[in-house]
Amino acid sequence: MSVFRRRGWEIPERRATAESVFFRRRALLAGLGAGVVGAAAYYAFGDGMSPAAAQAQDQAPDAVLAGLLPAKRNETFKLDRGLTPEKINGNYNNFYEFGTSKYVASAAQGLKTRPWTVKIDGLVNNPAELDFDDLVKKFALEERLYRHRCVEAWSMTIPWTGFALADLVKFADPKAEATYVRFETGVPKAEAPGMRVSWYPWPYTEGLTIAEAKNELAFLAVGTYGKIMPNQHGAPIRLAVPWKYGFKSIKSISRISFVDKRPDTFWEALQSSEYGFWANVNPEVPHPRWSQAYERVLDTGAQVPTQIYNGYGDYVAGLYKDIKGEALFM
Ligand code: MTE
Repeated sequence: MSVFRRRGWEIPERRATAESVFFRRRALLAGLGAGVVGAAAYYAFGDGMSPAAAQAQDQAPDAVLAGLLPAKRNETFKLDRGLTPEKINGNYNNFYEFGTSKYVASAAQGLKTRPWTVKIDGLVNNPAELDFDDLVKKFALEERLYRHRCVEAWSMTIPWTGFALADLVKFADPKAEATYVRFETGVPKAEAPGMRVSWYPWPYTEGLTIAEAKNELAFLAVGTYGKIMPNQHGAPIRLAVPWKYGFKSIKSISRISFVDKRPDTFWEALQSSEYGFWANVNPEVPHPRWSQAYERVLDTGAQVPTQIYNGYGDYVAGLYKDIKGEALFM
């Protein structure tokens, strides 16, 4: 494989760490995405809005979702550190469809998230092709505070709003033969400059076992910080599986398929020796080119010890106790 085709993660850890300096630069604050400002204005209308403004809101593309927010926090999920400020994690993203740098927030505004269809297919008794606004009304939304640990050894904490993936699995009603769930990103090439890079195996895909998908922690997020999901985080709907490295948390999902074979995934197809199917967080299993023992907390720059399963072992360790001979932590 050509060394000139450097992928975003093919970096020494020292380079990723040095990027924390970026957050001290005033330029970052000056460059905040229009989406953040737009969302703040959208929520500022309150009850006393004029009829014209109310009509405008009715016609806003994400009015249905806005009407369901903010959702009540599920207090079960606790953090061991503060929330990452919204402006920081909303401006440091991995979304290769929009480029390989971390600063894709502005390019991601080119993604049209309405209309958006999510197809549920494969080995299910209830296949469906749902408009996102119809889909989101079917499930009870809640807020969860989750840690997020990128394979590149940085971490953030984020309040996601969404619903349990287990609820969608129940809705789909999988057949007994369905053993895996495959997810596909639906970003159209015409809206995504990063997809012009032809050696990536587009579309971005990911997969979980059906047991992982039914685990209480697996979450489909449609919002952050009590608001509609900003495009750069994977609007209108993305996965959050916080016990796994961040690349498993696929963004902008348009298809969820129930299958009987382990699905190919984007990063595994590119570099299976470095980015496997399981990708469970483990400080004792280094990435082939850097240690996973510590992580850089995105907002403070502090180096803190990484935890097995990213601290979620009580929820998920049992999923893996009978699996032998698999690279569970890569
Ligand atoms: N999903 C898609 N479709 N494209 C991507 O490039 N990057 C992954 C994951 N999901 C990615 C994706 C990686 S590497 C990480 S760490 C997280 O999204 C980053 O999520 P965030 O930008 O919301 O922090």
